Amino acid sequence: MRVGILGGTGPAGRGVGIRAALAGHEVMLGSRNEAKAAEAARGLGHERIKGSDNHEAAAFGDVVVLSVPWEAAMQTAVEVEREARGKVLMSMANAVAFIDGKPEPVVPSSGSIALGIQARLPTVRVAASMHHVPARSLYETDVKLDFDVLTCSDDKGALDRVTELVRSIDGLRPIDAGGLHNASAIEALTPLLIALNSRYKARTGIRIIGID
Ligand SMILES: NC(=O)c1ccc[n+]([C@@H]2O[C@H](COP(=O)([O-])OP(=O)(O)OC[C@H]3O[C@@H](n4cnc5c(N)ncnc54)[C@H](OP(=O)(O)O)[C@@H]3O)[C@@H](O)[C@H]2O)c1
Repeated sequence: MRVGILGGTGPAGRGVGIRAALAGHEVMLGSRNEAKAAEAARGLGHERIKGSDNHEAAAFGDVVVLSVPWEAAMQTAVEVEREARGKVLMSMANAVAFIDGKPEPVVPSSGSIALGIQARLPTVRVAASMHHVPARSLYETDVKLDFDVLTCSDDKGALDRVTELVRSIDGLRPIDAGGLHNASAIEALTPLLIALNSRYKARTGIRIIGID
């Protein structure tokens, strides 16, 4: 499939990009600055990864990944609404505030970043996914991944498409986390994982037990 990544120059976007390319997908990293995206794409050094601006990335992707800081997520999604119309928008944005250096969840009035975007942009099919996979584990391609990936959406087709993308990446197991209301819990878990990373000097992720 074709994967367009908004904010694809950051660690999370580059990480998803390289893993998607290694899984056989065509990838376009997006940026507010086309030259920066082209440089990031060159840096990943894979023939299936290109770089352009966020509009081009949204136009390119069958799945459009939203990989910008949460404060910029709504505006970025709104800016590419025309190109992303009818498509799957996979939000991986986590709303986190650092209070006295400690990560805490920020719960938007909509309940989550993903729900807020879906409410504002009904023409786009929002799924929430990939919140708990550390970017460094993704872009350091010698790291063997072993993570569960909670994915939720109110659109069955979007859920299936993102599940297909996640499953295609070696070492990731997609978990159907139901409707988009569950993005609240998914996004809010991330600050806890960041705190655990700091406390245990680790790169934590999640595993759901009891599902074969
Ligand atoms: N880092 C992780 O381990 C991880 C894991 C899972 C999920 N996530 C989530 O994935 C998202 C991206 O994470 P990240 O660590 O890659 O973030 P980041 O490096 O802070 O930002 C990613 C990209 O977003 C763009 N950006 C920054 N500020 C912006 C603004 N005000 N408006 C529009 N675009 C802006 C920048 O690209 P340009 O300057 O090129 O436009 C930047 O390279 C976050 O929401 C994060 O919560 C992160």
